[in-house]
Amino acid sequence: MLTPVIVAIPPVAPPRSPRQVEQQRHYARLALKHCAERAGAPAGGWEQDADEAPLPNAGFHWSVSHKRQWAAAVIAERPVGIDIENIVPRGRSLHETVGSDEEWRIMGDRSWLAFFRLWTAKEATLKANGLGIGELSSCRVMEVSDGRYLTTSYGGQLWPIAQFFHAGHVAAVTCGGDDVDWCVLEEKSKRQNVETSKAEPRP
Ligand SMILES: CC(C)(COP(=O)(O)OP(=O)(O)OC[C@H]1O[C@@H](n2cnc3c(N)ncnc32)[C@H](O)[C@@H]1OP(=O)(O)O)[C@@H](O)C(=O)NCCC(=O)NCCS
Repeated sequence: MLTPVIVAIPPVAPPRSPRQVEQQRHYARLALKHCAERAGAPAGGWEQDADEAPLPNAGFHWSVSHKRQWAAAVIAERPVGIDIENIVPRGRSLHETVGSDEEWRIMGDRSWLAFFRLWTAKEATLKANGLGIGELSSCRVMEVSDGRYLTTSYGGQLWPIAQFFHAGHVAAVTCGGDDVDWCVLEEKSKRQNVETSKAEPRP
C-alpha cells in the first residue's frame, strides 16, 4: 500500500514571491513528515543531491511536489515520483509539447483535465527516475485504465500511475501497481481536518 499525503498551504506569502516558494517547500516537508509516520520511515535525513534530486534514506525513496495552494509527498521502498498541478487553462500549443497525436488519442480528449492528467503522469514518472522535464518527450502514455489509473513508459519500463483529484488539482504518483491510500490534510477554522480517500483496488 502506498500512502501519499497532500497538505493545504495557507495563503500567507505574497503570490509569486520567494517567500511563497519557501513556504511551498516547507509544506512539502510537512507532508513528507506525515508520509514518514505512515510508512514507518525515519523522521529526518531526507537529503537531495547537487541537482536537487531526492536521495534514498535508510532504504526509503521519496518525492515531493508543491504548487501555490497544495503540497504533496510520497515515500516508498522503491523509486517513486509524485506531481501535483492546478487544472487551469494554459496556452493551447502546450498540448503538442506534452503529448503526441497517438497519446492524445489514448487520453480520449484534449480537455484541460486530460492535459494535466498527462502532464502529472509524465512528471511523476520522470521524478521516479531522478530526471526533470528535459526528458519529457522520452516518456509516453501507453494506456488509460479509467479516470484514476493510467500507464506510462520510460526507459524500457512500464510505470503504473495512480491519480487523485482534489480542489481543482490533480496529483499523480508512480504506484507500481500497488493500492494507493491518499491522505489530504487541511486546516479549517484552526481545526485540522483529515480527509483520507482509500482508493479502490486497481481495475
Ligand atoms: C524537477 C522538476 C520536474 C520539478 O517540477 P515542478 O513542477 O517545477 O515542481 P514540483 O513542485 O512538482 O517538484 C519540485 C520538486 O522536485 C524535486 N526534484 C528536483 N529535481 C528532481 C529530479 N531530478 N528528480 C526527482 N525529483 C526532483 C525536488 O524535491 C523539488 O522540490 P524541492 O525544491 O522542494 O526540493 C522540474 O523543475 C525540472 O525539470 N527541473 C530540472 C530542470 C530541467 O530539466 N530543465 C530542462 C528544461 S527543458
